[in-house]
Amino acid sequence: MTQSLGGTFTFPGTSLTVRRMGYGAMQLAGPGVFGPPRDHDEAVAVLREAIASGVDHIDTSDFYGPHVVNKLIKEALHPFPKNLVIVSKLGAKRGADASWNPAFSPEELESAARDNLRHLGIDALDIVNLRIMGDVHAPQEGSIADKVEIMANLQRKGLIKHIGLSNVTSKQVAEARSIVPIVCVQNFYNVANRNDDPLVDEMAAAGIAFVPFFPLGGFFPLQTEALATVATKLGATQLQVAQAWLLQRAPNMLLIPGTSSRGHLRENLASAELKLPADALDQLNVIAAQAKH
Ligand SMILES: NC(=O)c1ccc[n+]([C@@H]2O[C@H](COP(=O)([O-])OP(=O)(O)OC[C@H]3O[C@@H](n4cnc5c(N)ncnc54)[C@H](OP(=O)(O)O)[C@@H]3O)[C@@H](O)[C@H]2O)c1
Repeated sequence: MTQSLGGTFTFPGTSLTVRRMGYGAMQLAGPGVFGPPRDHDEAVAVLREAIASGVDHIDTSDFYGPHVVNKLIKEALHPFPKNLVIVSKLGAKRGADASWNPAFSPEELESAARDNLRHLGIDALDIVNLRIMGDVHAPQEGSIADKVEIMANLQRKGLIKHIGLSNVTSKQVAEARSIVPIVCVQNFYNVANRNDDPLVDEMAAAGIAFVPFFPLGGFFPLQTEALATVATKLGATQLQVAQAWLLQRAPNMLLIPGTSSRGHLRENLASAELKLPADALDQLNVIAAQAKH
């Protein structure tokens, strides 16, 4: 492993240190994050190459597939390297029609935590994000205390070591932190979607990891003129520039780009070595400004 993979970050109040460039496993499920992968052997190879390249942070959930992605992670990597931090999430249940349905009762959250443990083949989950439904990809205000209490109970039972939050507002993070320590926040954020700029800064000041989902734009990866201009100048791809921008945005920013191909994985990991000069950062700021109009 020759790459720095973006330096390291320690989740607050934990002994868990990860490289800032991680891997998001959601893309390993079939179309619509449902069913088996298009190419099983490639999915296993992607996971193995990520670890061989120094990745020590994988984001997953038992609702990817459902069960499919966790089972692939187990097949490819179990017994897990000691330094590997697997982060899962709870709060949804898949319907037979591939729908995503809220599942927040104490029974549903506990059985989902146990499903994760069983399918990954481990006794306790390192970190679990409570995924609030809100609007699908945008948080909405409202108390989440009852759900956080249930997560705290799962922690007391030893099923979960540390707790994070996903799709939440600043107020909801504060409310949750009054109940239990929060080690990371996972919201929709990237160079073109910067609604959470204030939350990124707030979490940086608190030493809490900010782990954007859809860091590359999600199912429709980012493509903009500004990214293309900077990419051409630096001899990189647009998505490498988008990832380098995130790594430079704040020291608590951890990346979990998703891919189902080793070629894309290599490109993504290489972006940890790309440094964006000040003029490139200025050019990229234009994307967010344009997205607001
Ligand atoms: N908390 C939440 O609600 C939530 C929601 C969504 C996702 N997540 C997590 O966040 C992780 C990242 O999100 P994501 O995977 O949905 O979106 P993403 O990382 O923004 O983008 C993934 C898409 O980009 C493509 N891609 C990846 N690398 C590429 C490259 N180098 N060149 C061209 N295309 C490339 C992928 O296709 P290929 O497979 O063809 O590479 C896929 O279509 C997920 O894996 C999941 O763990 C969490």
